[in-house]
Amino acid sequence: MPSIPQSTSPRTLQVARILDAVGGDVPKGLRLEIEPQLDSTNETLKRRSSTEDIHWLALLAEQQTAGRGRLGRSWISPPGSNLYLSLGWRFNYDVSGLAGLSLAVGCAVAEQLESSFGVHMMLKWPNDLYLDSRKCGGVLIDLVPSPTDGWVAIIGIGLNVAMPMEDSHGIDQPWTDLASHLPAAPSRDAVAADVLAALVRVLSGWQAHPFSAWQACWQRRDFLKGHEVTVQQAGNTIRGRATGVDGTGALSIETDLGTVSVHAGEASMLRGVAP
Ligand code: BTN
Repeated sequence: MPSIPQSTSPRTLQVARILDAVGGDVPKGLRLEIEPQLDSTNETLKRRSSTEDIHWLALLAEQQTAGRGRLGRSWISPPGSNLYLSLGWRFNYDVSGLAGLSLAVGCAVAEQLESSFGVHMMLKWPNDLYLDSRKCGGVLIDLVPSPTDGWVAIIGIGLNVAMPMEDSHGIDQPWTDLASHLPAAPSRDAVAADVLAALVRVLSGWQAHPFSAWQACWQRRDFLKGHEVTVQQAGNTIRGRATGVDGTGALSIETDLGTVSVHAGEASMLRGVAP
């Protein structure tokens, strides 16, 4: 639960401050836009992708009125307190080459935030960022066919930075924010710069370093490893012990019938079962 008092007039995000914080490594093609309010940064980029090239376009919103989470959930997105960011990225090859991309993004964001703020972020398969056993953020990737060639990925990241308590009531699972794990609420510009740097690191190296290059990073931060889990997949429930992820990002589960690889779905940890 957040323990830091929230400021009543939070500083707004600023392009110059974010690019400054990214520092000398700002890639030349990167464009950064900040909007006071959008329905959803992912949805906005998706719409824009039909009329313009969104490759290297990063869009931030101070507030989302219809923020989207995975599996049709909503993402609580109050103004001026958290981070809602999406980046468009064109891939000139088949979607199968993107296996594990969202997991790698989680790894890179966790590593970057750990190096900047000293927080030890864990990763819950497939796309959740955890601090102290509570969800702090998530990754949502939408894919649209590119008007030219291949696919455009819209990589959305939501990160609770300093969630106002009064806005948290709609969150349907244990949650936390970065501010609760630091002496003071961090600058959202600095957090945005970290997330951008992490995204650029994963995406610009993806062809040479696909998920297999991030697998060890994931294993070090794997929240589910060793725990009894259930996974819902295509109407079936798989139950067993999570043992890690393979080189494509699929979750390995040891069941009574042998090891099963799960490529997509939602995993829940069974409470009260020792690892
Ligand atoms: C999840 O854990 O369910 C994924 C959450 C992703 C939320 C982000 S916020 C920025 C981008 N825009 C959205 O509408 N969703 C993603």
